[in-house]
Amino acid sequence: MSRLKVAVMISGRGSNLRALMEACSEPGFPAEIVLVLSNTPDAGGLRHAREAGLTAKVVNHRDYADKPTFERTMEAELEQSGAELVCLAGFMRLLTPEFVDRWRDRLINIHPSLLPAFKGLDTHQRALDAGTRISGCTVHFVRADMDDGPIILQAAVPVLEGDDADALAARVLAAEHRCYPAALRLIAEGRVRVDRDRVRVDSPPAAGTLFSPPVR
Ligand code: GRF
Repeated sequence: MSRLKVAVMISGRGSNLRALMEACSEPGFPAEIVLVLSNTPDAGGLRHAREAGLTAKVVNHRDYADKPTFERTMEAELEQSGAELVCLAGFMRLLTPEFVDRWRDRLINIHPSLLPAFKGLDTHQRALDAGTRISGCTVHFVRADMDDGPIILQAAVPVLEGDDADALAARVLAAEHRCYPAALRLIAEGRVRVDRDRVRVDSPPAAGTLFSPPVR
């Protein structure tokens, strides 16, 4: 079985990276991580990747005079790795429209809200301030606008009385760790296509979870 070659781009602790690593280490999982790329040398995720024997590299944005040069260096690494899909997992630099276009429909992101609500930072506090009863996470294809693009998969969690931003973040993060590998599986199995900026999932599994489309 040929597995989809995936690069994961991070900036920080890398818990979603770890969820993807765990999924990819399961026998029969249809994707493999060929590169972990960080824009900061002290990203915690780098250590996890290296401990697991993955190729993990730093392209420090501070070392480059401008964003196009920084991105060209990252792209050279991506190309060298043979990555067919790039997963942003807590990657905290905005990418230029040129980069995003070159990876169109091959670049995905996870965001800790039910998009299109609460794009940007500080999502959990804003969800609490708005009095929402349900929050969650979204895996989507990346477009030039921040936290925009065709939605692949979402997972919902309740907002509970007494939640603060940390409590809600932890509940959403647990959902992220299930949602991102599930979305990667759907893509790697060739079941996801973009049709006029909407995602169509072929033969979605049976309903019955808080995931949409449902996942086993
Ligand atoms: C996650 O909440 C993700 O949704 C957001 O950044 C955070 C990254 O966390 N884009 P981690 O580095 O994966 O632990």
